[in-house]
Amino acid sequence: MKFPKIKKKRYNIPAKMIKLIKSTFYKEKETKLKLSQFIQKSNWLSFGPECEKFEKEFAQYQGRKYCIFVNSGSSANLALVQALFNLGGIKKGDLAGFSAVTWSTNVMPFIQLGLTPIPIDIELDTLNVSSRTLIKTVGEKEIKILFLTNLLGFCDDIDKIKKLCDALDIVLIEDNCESLGTVYKGKKLGNYGIASTFSFYVGHHMSTVEGGAICTDDKELATMLRIVRAHGWDRNLNRESQNHLRNKFNVNSTFYSRYTFYDLGYNLRPTEIQGYTGSLQLKYIDEIVKKRNYNFLKVAPVIYNKTDKYIPIKWDHIDYLSNFAIPLICRTKEIRDELVAKCKNKIEIRPIVGGDMAMQPFFKKHISQEPNLSTNKNAKLVHEQGLYFGNNPELTHKELEIIIKTFTS
Ligand SMILES: Cc1ncc(COP(=O)(O)O)c(C=O)c1O
Repeated sequence: MKFPKIKKKRYNIPAKMIKLIKSTFYKEKETKLKLSQFIQKSNWLSFGPECEKFEKEFAQYQGRKYCIFVNSGSSANLALVQALFNLGGIKKGDLAGFSAVTWSTNVMPFIQLGLTPIPIDIELDTLNVSSRTLIKTVGEKEIKILFLTNLLGFCDDIDKIKKLCDALDIVLIEDNCESLGTVYKGKKLGNYGIASTFSFYVGHHMSTVEGGAICTDDKELATMLRIVRAHGWDRNLNRESQNHLRNKFNVNSTFYSRYTFYDLGYNLRPTEIQGYTGSLQLKYIDEIVKKRNYNFLKVAPVIYNKTDKYIPIKWDHIDYLSNFAIPLICRTKEIRDELVAKCKNKIEIRPIVGGDMAMQPFFKKHISQEPNLSTNKNAKLVHEQGLYFGNNPELTHKELEIIIKTFTS
């Protein structure tokens, strides 16, 4: 089969720059060709069987009973928090703990639903919340839910965090958007909490261009997530769940059942194009994860060894590490600023995810009364002295060498 040539040029990024995102899909040519053929022959492109097929495949990959496919990782976060809210697991006014270094849309749903977000500091050497930082928080505040972010492929002692949450009746949910494929103590990250969220945005581990998912083993939560995903109605539920709802609310006619809305929801549905792409890309996931692991092990130990420049990050407690970008915590702001200048037009870099959420304008605007703002010193340091560069499966050996040289010289 002959594949057409694809020009890889994104916005105004110099052609020679080592980019965070090198292509839209892994195996881009084959994927785009198959995708265009799929679109040509399809007569239904909004949510349908391709999405459901991908959901089954992804649930199987992750080792969870249910997967609910949505149109972004942020939608996955929103849907999950809303579903827990609808089920009464959390309510207005509750305190909601979250990893102080995370993404904006992990915190925003709590604010939107009237909960009070409580940032929990991370450990500098793992970039994640630990049982130690959690114990400190729960000693001061009665949090009802903990939204952990498994940051950049890493975790701390998430097994202990789970035990603590169970003991204290705290609902544990995980954002695994950046750590697909990481294994800790024999278990994939994303399988510690009651549910976990994933992003399939370009540049994350696998791409459906835009896309996300929630995985869980909890049937009731999975059903509610499907209600939340689409308008609050009961389509896409199985017959048993539909009958249960219709009986409960006395919806006796098919006519009205079409437009009956049972609980608070949105429209977060993905399309068949995303579903089909998800199945295509999932075939490569083991290869993608392996390459990212290889890249990490090739560059991180050498770079982190420069302990005069960087605060070391440890991963020897993790069985298998898979991240989409590699973090560096500089010893000083000056070192970080020098690197930012050095990488200009050479290596594409970013702050470490959203940095310290408490320092973001939206947080200051909506949660200004929170007295804890300045106490998360590690999160603040990461915000002010951190950066990351991309780790994607298409990095060449030459590029890996350039990366090592840039960050060690
Ligand atoms: C930890 C984390 N959660 C959620 C998201 C949001 O995912 P999306 O861009 O698919 O909305 C991101 C985005 O990069 C992220 O890093």
